Amino acid sequence: MKLQAVIFDLDGVVTDTAHLHFLAWQRIASEIGIVIDEQINEQLKGISRMDSLERILRHGGMEQRIGQQQRLQLAAQKNAFYVELLQQLHPGSVLPGIAPLLAELHAKHIRVGLASVSLNAPRILNALGLAGQFDFCADANTISRSKPDPEIFLAACEGLGCAPANCIGIEDAQAGIDAINASHMLSVGIGSQLKHADLLLASTAELSELCLQSFWLTKHGELSGRVKEGK
Ligand code: BG6
Ligand code: MG
Repeated sequence: MKLQAVIFDLDGVVTDTAHLHFLAWQRIASEIGIVIDEQINEQLKGISRMDSLERILRHGGMEQRIGQQQRLQLAAQKNAFYVELLQQLHPGSVLPGIAPLLAELHAKHIRVGLASVSLNAPRILNALGLAGQFDFCADANTISRSKPDPEIFLAACEGLGCAPANCIGIEDAQAGIDAINASHMLSVGIGSQLKHADLLLASTAELSELCLQSFWLTKHGELSGRVKEGK
């Protein structure tokens, strides 16, 4: 079985926007008297804007007190502040190892996809100078369930025309790893705290086409061994 496509998460894999999300949420939360820390931020990774707000309100014990209208206003304010912060992004903000990996994948005719639930994904790819580097970007506007649901990864596979079993997904969030695993792709986790990743790397700097290919071959050797042994 050949590796046909690699599907990337954006925030935290292609560029380090997780901290910018945190700063924007922190500002909005403090306006309604909720304190959030990096630990809460960890739980917001891979979660849509409205679901993130829901979790912040729950953390502050305010989910009953804030109605839908005010939620929409808070989410819009958070996004306005986040978009301001995104102005600092430039091609040098691409995380180490990602640009060479994209070039290697293209050279080897392995398809490249994006599976981000961020509605700002097109803006971020433009700011990074990477807009032309993805064969297919799943559209977060068409997704109804956040990660860990596999919906966005399955949409990326479909857009690329590849079966999930022929793809690798790369993620920095636990919800993202769970989404990749639920879609039956092989999962690569970036970071030290992630559970159930098929391959865990400390940083994007360790990624390369060679590393992904040897991981793929190892996993498929293991899988066919298990089939032969009838496990
Ligand atoms: C994900 C981030 O990529 O996008 C989440 O990990 C974020 O933290 C989500 O909430 C939605 O992003 P946006 O840009 O649509 O608010
Ligand atoms: Mg992420």
